[in-house]
Amino acid sequence: MKTSAVANDFHFTFHEPKAVRLFLGFVKEHQPRQVIINGDLCDFYKISKFDKDPNRIESLQIEIDAASDFLGELRDAATGADVIFDEGNHEHRLRKYLWRKAEALASLKCLELPKLLKLDKYHIKHVPYGEGVQVGKIFVYHGTIVRQDSSYTAKAEFLKNGCSGMSGHTHRDGKYVKRNRGGQFAWWENFCMCKLDPEYVDGIVNWSQGFSLIHSVGSKQYVEQIHINKGSYVYGGQIHK
Ligand SMILES: [Fe+2]
Repeated sequence: MKTSAVANDFHFTFHEPKAVRLFLGFVKEHQPRQVIINGDLCDFYKISKFDKDPNRIESLQIEIDAASDFLGELRDAATGADVIFDEGNHEHRLRKYLWRKAEALASLKCLELPKLLKLDKYHIKHVPYGEGVQVGKIFVYHGTIVRQDSSYTAKAEFLKNGCSGMSGHTHRDGKYVKRNRGGQFAWWENFCMCKLDPEYVDGIVNWSQGFSLIHSVGSKQYVEQIHINKGSYVYGGQIHK
């Protein structure tokens, strides 16, 4: 059995430290063959088009360092795994910012995400925004659709892509299944690893923390979604804190 662990939407430095620690602990203990960081590892708050809180002191460099340090810890935890970093829309902000505000600098290799995050140093494969990763029959990508309620996005992503898949972007879990003459399909929404009380959102966010496992056995895939519920999760009949 080959297991891929998938986590997304960390949004460093809005990440939830406890959730990140639990994920790293899981990887270290269970040694999945593949780990996919499925987008929005960085937030890139400073280069967002939206209004920004001037009191936030984190610079872009602090965000990048925090995200890169996490990748270093992940590499140490997942010693033999193929680790993949698949860009999300927040990482794509960097390229869009350069195109918009500093087009002449956009070709500089030192400003490319793999360089900034030290992906070569950690032997992590980079997948550009939107390309995604195929895990057996399951297409894993960050996602582009956000519906108001859980699983509505999973349905919309299935209808858009026409295959089984897994996406982040909505910051919550959800699942949509479909069986027709073409076969048995499913699409999963894959939680987030960021705080559930971000300072930039008023009120309650409809988000949930966790990560997913895709087990491949021959040509079949089995998905387990692991919900981190206020700092703990259950796996293999045991509680992990
Ligand atoms: Fe996103």
